[in-house]
Order: sequence, then structure tokens, then C-alpha cells
Amino acid sequence: MSIIVFRYLHFLGITFWIGSAVAVAIAASAPSPWESGIAQSLRKISIRVTTPAMLFAFAGGFGMLIPNFAELYAKQGWMHTKLALLLVLAGATGVLTGKLRRWAEGQDVSPKVFGKLAWALSILAVLIITLAIFRPFSA
Ligand code: HEM
Repeated sequence: MSIIVFRYLHFLGITFWIGSAVAVAIAASAPSPWESGIAQSLRKISIRVTTPAMLFAFAGGFGMLIPNFAELYAKQGWMHTKLALLLVLAGATGVLTGKLRRWAEGQDVSPKVFGKLAWALSILAVLIITLAIFRPFSA
């Protein structure tokens, strides 16, 4: 596949991954009774949109990274910082998915956790996009 296709997948994935994860976390942070079905609906979004979009973002990102790593990115500090931060971002997405699953199963999950996750996901996305665009610490 050509780099442009990976780039295309990367941006489609990022848009729907971050967009849906932040929207789901904000919606889940509103206190609401379990019986309303909101937990199950939000979980559906996270399974059907957030997780596949994350995989597209990763496939596109690695499709660009791997063939050019040695000659282009190995010495780029911004890329290393970006890769470290996006592990945290992927981890935060995993925490969101796990908390939603527990909530949808009827366990007690504080709405405040979702509010904190919405902030964490948003701040991480801003930091990663800032690194990718302004490219500090370049060799
Ligand atoms: C496994 C995950 C990821 C990998 C391996 C990866 C890798 C890459 C690579 C190799 C590029 C091309 C850089 C270039 O044009 O030279 C790129 C571009 C970009 N990435 Fe990622 N990335 C990942 C996740 C993310 C995430 C989560 C975000 C946003 C939250 C993001 C935002 C961007 C942006 C905005 C660009 C475009 C930079 C530009 O065109 O100037 N990436 N990424």
C-alpha cells in the first residue's frame, strides 16, 4: 500500500478514535441511572467505533513509520515522544473501554472517572498533534 493510503487511514482513524472516545467519556460523566440503557449504548459506540478507529490509526501510523524508521524517524525526538504519549493514549482508551464494560454490567463506576478520562484523552491528543505538526527535538 502506498504512503498516501496509510496517511489516509491514519487521519480517518485518529478522527473517529479521539472524537468518539472523548464524546463517550463526556456522556458517561453525567450521573444517570444504569436502567436508562445509556451505559450499554455508550459501550456499543466504544466497541463499534472507538476500537476499530484506533486500529486504523495504528495501521496507518505503522504503515508510514516502519518503512521509513531507520532513515527518517529513528533520530527524531518528536516521533519518540509522540510514540511514548500515544502508548498512554491507547492505555487511557483501554481504561475507558474497561470502565464502560463494568458500568454496562451493572457495577458501580463513579461518573467522575469518565470526566477525568475525557480531560486526559483530550490533553494527550492535543500534545500528540502538537508534536506531529511542530516537530520539536528534530535532529
Ligand atoms: C501507533 C500509533 C501511531 C504511529 C505509529 C504514528 C506514526 C506517524 C507517522 C510515521 C507519521 C508521518 C510523519 C511524516 O509525515 O513524516 C504520522 C503523522 C501524523 N500523526 Fe501519527 N502515529 C500514531 C498515532 C497518532 C495519534 C494517536 C495522533 C493524534 C492524536 C497522530 C497524529 C498525527 C498527525 C497530526 C500527523 C501528521 C503530521 C504532518 O503531516 O505534518 N498520530 N504519524
